[in-house]
Amino acid sequence: MKGFNYLKKVLFAIRNKMFSIPTITTLKQDTETLHEQRIEALETMVRYQHYKMSDLRKRMRFLVAQSPSSFPEQTQTKSSFDYQWNQLNEGKFLVSDKAFVKNLEKLICQYTTLEKDWFKGKTVLDAGCGQGRFTLGFCRLDANVAAFDQSSSAIRFVKENCKEYTNLISVTEHNIFEPIDFVEPCDLVWSYGVIHHTGDTYKAFSNLIKKVKKDGYLFLMVYGEPVLDNILTFAEQLEYSRLRHLCQNKTNEEKVEILKQEKPPEHLHGWFDAISPHINDTYSFKELESWLLAAGFVDIKRTFENANHHIIARRQHCV
Ligand SMILES: C[S@@+](CC[C@H](N)C(=O)[O-])C[C@H]1O[C@@H](n2cnc3c(N)ncnc32)[C@H](O)[C@@H]1O
Repeated sequence: MKGFNYLKKVLFAIRNKMFSIPTITTLKQDTETLHEQRIEALETMVRYQHYKMSDLRKRMRFLVAQSPSSFPEQTQTKSSFDYQWNQLNEGKFLVSDKAFVKNLEKLICQYTTLEKDWFKGKTVLDAGCGQGRFTLGFCRLDANVAAFDQSSSAIRFVKENCKEYTNLISVTEHNIFEPIDFVEPCDLVWSYGVIHHTGDTYKAFSNLIKKVKKDGYLFLMVYGEPVLDNILTFAEQLEYSRLRHLCQNKTNEEKVEILKQEKPPEHLHGWFDAISPHINDTYSFKELESWLLAAGFVDIKRTFENANHHIIARRQHCV
């Protein structure tokens, strides 16, 4: 608020031509007040750049999406996930984590804000299911579940993990950009941590929403970009960037060795997942909300307090 008042004074002074626009160099004198003012001016500039950067990334993603749909980053990202499901398939928050599995149904209800009873007999599509931790949860909630992922190693796991459930309708190796014609529109389309890894998030989103019934729900978990009112979100992204740079051009095995030096073994999967795939886009909530609104979704809400967006929305009409 203090910074805001100072800025108001500066803007007033500029408008009334009381002094020239302050720059970092004109605010040089080393008194405490001027020091504070310089910090405020810097903060203002950083805030401005943050918004501009977000706008530019939005535009850049749009431009990249117009180019041919297969580029090296996509191939790397696909093989990174394949490796991950093959070699690092145990750890915290995975099917091997008993405490996580015990809490699964509750977690799904919390993320979707839907009651446990809602799921019984409903159709659910788990898009980009990975090893099927949430597929398993939907099976246990008595929904009729279809799941797909582009990774063949992941698909093998889902089939194994959910083999006892007759309400698992299909498990398909499938690319999210291709027509999803093996399932009818569903009561819930769920995609947790997937579309920001595709290289064309909007195209993946557009394909998924075709599978949401009228009055059905879409749930997305999408990486959030850092937000100005929470410095920790910058610190978190900085740590990912540091490790991504450290691991650039390393083999998967070398990356694992680097991570082993720094991170606890039970979190290796999570860290590899965060830093190894080259495509890791982050979004503002507003950008995602604008896509949902334009596609005829209502009741759009963030359901979980987290740096990443956990979003549920209801499809009121098909645009
Ligand atoms: C971070 S994992 C999340 C897996 C699962 N949703 C979960 O929460 O455990 C991302 C998954 O998205 C899948 N994926 C990435 N791009 C995809 C695409 N183009 N088509 C289908 N699946 C894709 C990956 O293979 C990977 O299993």
